[in-house]
Amino acid sequence: MMNSEAHAELPGVSTKKVWAIGGGKGGVGKSLVSANVAICLALMGNKVVAVDLDLGGANLHTCLGLPIPQVTLSDYVSKKITNFSDLLVSTPISNLKIISGAQDELGMANLKHMHKNQIIRKLHELDADYILFDLGAGTAFNTIDFFITADKGVLVVLPEPTSIENTYRFIKSVFYRRLKMIEGVSDIEHLINESMNAKVTAGRASPAELMKKISDVSPDVGYRVRQEMGLFRPNLIINQVRSQADIDIGYSIQSICRKYFGLEMSFPGYLDYDQSVWQSVRKRKPLLIEYPNSKLVNNFDRIVNRLIES
Ligand SMILES: Nc1ncnc2c1ncn2[C@@H]1O[C@H](COP(=O)(O)OP(=O)(O)OP(=O)(O)O)[C@@H](O)[C@H]1O
Ligand SMILES: [Mg+2]
Repeated sequence: MMNSEAHAELPGVSTKKVWAIGGGKGGVGKSLVSANVAICLALMGNKVVAVDLDLGGANLHTCLGLPIPQVTLSDYVSKKITNFSDLLVSTPISNLKIISGAQDELGMANLKHMHKNQIIRKLHELDADYILFDLGAGTAFNTIDFFITADKGVLVVLPEPTSIENTYRFIKSVFYRRLKMIEGVSDIEHLINESMNAKVTAGRASPAELMKKISDVSPDVGYRVRQEMGLFRPNLIINQVRSQADIDIGYSIQSICRKYFGLEMSFPGYLDYDQSVWQSVRKRKPLLIEYPNSKLVNNFDRIVNRLIES
């Protein structure tokens, strides 16, 4: 059982379908994926809310072809708006609403603990079939917490070394944060910290090795940790694919995660590099609506269906 404050305060977390879209690096396509996955789900007849949680540089609305929304999360934090559902903004796609991130420098990126938990709870309580979190870049605590509370985590990665490195860094942050939330691990916190601060090159200090060590020290805690961490199964999307070799990077990330973190990762699909993406962004129109013949329509279709099934 998780003793995370966030989970403890979140009634019915598991009954809602909250998907978080993250990735360690900026500009990898998180907002593109959030917007178009949201459109796919809405076109399938689901009630969808897409939430811009990139609190430092919100731009989900652009990927959906919307003007800068009049109400944003900062209006809720500053108490200008007291009813959370008043933050919902309609889009031209029926069934799809958005909640916009902050457009100002109100310190939203450094959202205080209490506010963060309150916002997470309100988001999970929204009346919708699917709630999508478009996260900001990096591994800030807020971003990791939004990711952890989701039912499904999606990581967008570009087939280039910097993006791949940042993906491992992101998974590592989530891994240790989740681990530390498990009840009973405080006794072995020194082992966790030791492993967390070890150099990645020190194979014996890998998270997978840590799991073994925990079981040696305490079979009971080891069992619980395995159960909890077994539920952590992030979904990988390789974006801007130009060759089979790019697609294969997805499989190698899967196998490295198995060896190093001891965790299984799903690979629901990839997105081709396509001119229609930046053309649609430039036109401020949603890709799937503006370019229904783009290669990306099939890409998204496959990804969304696999995410629904998994
Ligand atoms: N499959 C693709 N083909 C072509 N261009 C793409 C593709 N995916 C993303 N891009 C380009 O990358 C840009 C960045 O995408 P996006 O804004 O979705 O990234 P992000 O991860 O949300 O960035 P940030 O971290 O700044 O929020 C897009 O505007 C587009 O120009
Ligand atoms: Mg973005």
